[in-house]
Amino acid sequence: MSKILIARNSGFCFGVKRAIRMAEEAASLHEKVNTWGPIIHNPQMVEALSNQGVFEINELSEVSDAPVVIRSHGIPLEEMNALKEKGLLVIDATCPYVAKAHDYAKLADAEAYTIFILGNQDHPEIVALKSYIRNEFFIVNQDYSIIPQKRFGKCAIICQTTQNAANLEKLVFYLIGKCNELRVFNTICNATNVRQDASVELAKNANLMIVIGGKNSSNTKMLATLCAEYTKTFHIETANELNESWFIGTEIIGLTAGASTPDWIILEVYNRINKIVGKSEQTVDSVDDIPGYKEEINEY
Ligand code: F3S
Repeated sequence: MSKILIARNSGFCFGVKRAIRMAEEAASLHEKVNTWGPIIHNPQMVEALSNQGVFEINELSEVSDAPVVIRSHGIPLEEMNALKEKGLLVIDATCPYVAKAHDYAKLADAEAYTIFILGNQDHPEIVALKSYIRNEFFIVNQDYSIIPQKRFGKCAIICQTTQNAANLEKLVFYLIGKCNELRVFNTICNATNVRQDASVELAKNANLMIVIGGKNSSNTKMLATLCAEYTKTFHIETANELNESWFIGTEIIGLTAGASTPDWIILEVYNRINKIVGKSEQTVDSVDDIPGYKEEINEY
């Protein structure tokens, strides 16, 4: 008989809940609200918000006189200034932990550190973060080939909040002998750590892991990568992607979800899997009732 368990703390983190709440509050007060880029990396949630009058824009030419909510990943300084110069009501839903990384970047830059950003150069969080740096910086992930082979003076590391601790350790180890001073700002968000640890713990004991969340969500992709090291893993956005053949002969089915995955999607997936494995009687109405689920605690 199959058993379905969910990793502790799956789903929305503090920063995402806060951003959604701010967008919904704005929508209740204004006829129309814009978000600068997708407010979070979950297409289904972005679509659900559009039904409440919250619409994504990506260009200054799309700006109207509606308030603009800044996404949880933050935006580049120049874009923030351009929005403010237009006299718009700017509601800053940048996650406070992302904003903290901006503060560290400003601090290290003002003190003329060479900054190593550990993250994905195309991710909006990193595009925003680098806008706060005027001096020398490098964006690295697993590949360090862009780092010049020279001796550095003062160096600082700042991480994408969704990075993995092992990647940070590897970069510290790589740089430590190449610079006179190395300052490490560990800006990996604890919500990320908590979700990664819980997902890996479950993956170690599961025959199959289903990772739920946006295909454009870094933290969800990282969960899928980590789980795949331990067991067969599929990354899906919605219950419609589930394939019955995955579950044949599986004893323990693990579920986990990224920090930007809404509860209703997790619930749909859990209930659909129960139907697939012939346990329709175990469908539930709330994620709280999924075995293993625990509301986020001690995240910070
Ligand atoms: Fe913020 Fe951490 Fe979530 S940085 S958006 S609380 S994953």
